[in-house]
Formats: sequence, structure tokens, C-alpha cells
Amino acid sequence: MRLIIGISGASGVIMGYELLKALQSVPDCEKHLVITEGAVKNFACETNLGIDEIAALADYNHDNKNMAASISSGSFKTDGMIVVPCSMKTVAGIAAGFAGNLLLRAADVCLKESRRVVIVPREMPLSRIHLRNIKEAADSGCIVIPPMLTFYNGANSVEKQVQHIIGKIFMQFGIVYDKFTAWEGC
Ligand SMILES: Cc1cc2nc3c(=O)[nH]c(=O)nc-3n(C[C@H](O)[C@H](O)[C@H](O)COP(=O)(O)O)c2cc1C
Repeated sequence: MRLIIGISGASGVIMGYELLKALQSVPDCEKHLVITEGAVKNFACETNLGIDEIAALADYNHDNKNMAASISSGSFKTDGMIVVPCSMKTVAGIAAGFAGNLLLRAADVCLKESRRVVIVPREMPLSRIHLRNIKEAADSGCIVIPPMLTFYNGANSVEKQVQHIIGKIFMQFGIVYDKFTAWEGC
């Protein structure tokens, strides 16, 4: 499996980090990482993580300005892309096909090649513009997994809520995640 992971500058960049950590135990998963400038800022604002620590979890790290990177072309085959978290700016770019940076270009390429693109849009509240762009992205083929709170699984900490979101993302790629608690009836 070859996955592209995009981390953009919405709140919750820790979700991108935790997802990369969870991918470490997935055998034969080649991880291509692209982090936006906004995400770099948010890692500094919201976490104590250095960018090197995040980059170390990927097999390939791509500069968001490098439009000549492998993931910029459809001829470079991948199994799809996850954008976690996905800022409203990045949602807008994906919805409009505005490939103004490598993350956006990689998502644009995945969509044109009919590859899976999962976005985890984060903003609160959502304006009509945000909602329109998220709907546009969904209509264009993106799978939208907003990082919503879940109560049916006993996730009583932020850590467990994040694990649940990662589990829902992984389900889209058929990846089994041992920290995910599925609903089994009541
Ligand atoms: C601490 C912090 C939190 C932010 N949270 C959000 C957010 O939850 N959603 C969002 O759309 N933008 C958020 N932003 C703004 C984005 O980082 C900003 O719009 C940025 O230009 C997005 O660019 P990017 O998508 O290329 O990363 C936040 C910015 C900061 C500094």
C-alpha cells in the first residue's frame, strides 16, 4: 500500500501525527507526507512536537512548494490520500481543483485518477461557504470524515476520540486498527 498523508493548518494537527504513528504498525505501507506552512505553525501553537519528529514517521517527506514531487503526477501510483486535519482553505482548494501547492495538487491528482481521498475538515462553526465547499468536495469524490465527538464507544478522553477518528479513516482503506472500538449493538 502507498498512501499520501497531507497535514494542513486546521486545529488538531495532532490527529495527523497520531495517524502517522498508527500507520507504523501497518505492514508494507509506504507513507508520503506533505505538511503545509499552516500546519507547521499549528504544530508549534498546539503541540510540543518538532517537525522532525513528525517527518521521521514518513518514508518520504515532500516540500509543499515542490510541484515536481512524485505525488504531483498521476503516473505515480498510490492508493489514495488522507488530509488530516483539513483546513477550510484546503477544503476550498480541493473543491475548486485549485492546485496551488503540492498538497492540493496531490489531492487533485488522486481525484482525477479516481483514487480515494479522505478529508477531515475542521472548523467551528461552519459557515455556508465552508459547508458549500465540503459538499462540493464530497460531490467530487472526497470522503468527508469530520472529527466529530463519538459517545457510543466509551471514548472518554481526547486520545480515545482521536483513535476513533483514525479508526474511521482507516476503515476507508481496509486497514484494521486495534485501538478502534466498533459498535456491536446495545
Ligand atoms: C492555532 C490555529 C488554529 C487554527 N485552526 C483552524 C481550524 O480549525 N480550521 C481552519 O480552517 N483554519 C484554522 N486555522 C487557520 C489556518 O491555519 C489558515 O487558514 C491557513 O492559511 C490554512 O492554510 P493550509 O490549509 O495551507 O494549511 C488556524 C490557525 C491557527 C494559527
